[in-house]
Amino acid sequence: MFDLHGRVAVVTGASSGLGLQMSMGFAKQGADLVIMARRFEKLEKVAEKIRALGVRCLPIKCDITDTEAVFRAAEEAIKYYGKVDILVNNAGASKNAGVLDMTDEEWNFTLQADLTSVFKVTRAFAKYMVEKRYGRIINIASIYGQVGNTVMDTVAYHSSKGGVINFTRAVAAELAKYNVTCNTISPGYFETELTIDTLQTESFTAFMKSSVPLGRYGHEGELNPAAIFLASDEASYITGQNIKVDGGYTSV
Ligand SMILES: NC(=O)c1ccc[n+]([C@@H]2O[C@H](COP(=O)([O-])OP(=O)(O)OC[C@H]3O[C@@H](n4cnc5c(N)ncnc54)[C@H](OP(=O)(O)O)[C@@H]3O)[C@@H](O)[C@H]2O)c1
Repeated sequence: MFDLHGRVAVVTGASSGLGLQMSMGFAKQGADLVIMARRFEKLEKVAEKIRALGVRCLPIKCDITDTEAVFRAAEEAIKYYGKVDILVNNAGASKNAGVLDMTDEEWNFTLQADLTSVFKVTRAFAKYMVEKRYGRIINIASIYGQVGNTVMDTVAYHSSKGGVINFTRAVAAELAKYNVTCNTISPGYFETELTIDTLQTESFTAFMKSSVPLGRYGHEGELNPAAIFLASDEASYITGQNIKVDGGYTSV
């Protein structure tokens, strides 16, 4: 089960963090990869590690907020592999502030990076899935797409990620007739470049012990099983869903 040999997986934001980890996870299951991000030197290093696992890997430098660059990336991937089976919309970035202080620029930056980009990448790649009547789209949202929080002011991030969860449902409904599924994974707190400074503070460690039933943040690789499952043939009857990988945070 969960064998990905013969499948081509595209992962955005694969130069670091969860995207890098999921790319390695897919490669270990046998998938060929397209990895995307802006920092090409980092991508090339990731590509070398992936190829060492015996699969093919195409790194593409792409800013996912740039409409034309995203279309070009999809064309390049198709030229190289002839198809795309799996798409993980993982890349994201945010400017954090509260609702009383946030500027238009901060709001627009975050919505572009975390929500509009998911639309743009899906639009560009999903048409090739539709042509082949096969696809697995996985959008990485967040626990913050479902609840507010009392530890930091991140109103635009919450708004974007909430949007991603319902974008997923709309796309799932629209593309089901083409055998293309679309699901969300909502991570809880994971240690990555994005979060390391916050997660390692004493106050956050105490917060996690009291608010995350498993009492800790997610470790490297702990998001991979959910992504591999949703990307697999075995997840054929699952679409429009939101799997929370959060140590139980949203259950209490
Ligand atoms: N870590 C957590 O605790 C956590 C929790 C919930 C949700 N998430 C979500 O998980 C996803 C990955 O986060 P992470 O923690 O792994 O963060 P990360 O280590 O900072 O990685 C973010 C990735 O997104 C890429 N990226 C950012 N803006 C981009 C753009 N405009 N165009 C192309 N690529 C872009 C970055 O690559 P370049 O800089 O090279 O472009 C990087 O590879 C994000 O959507 C995040 O919101 C994370």
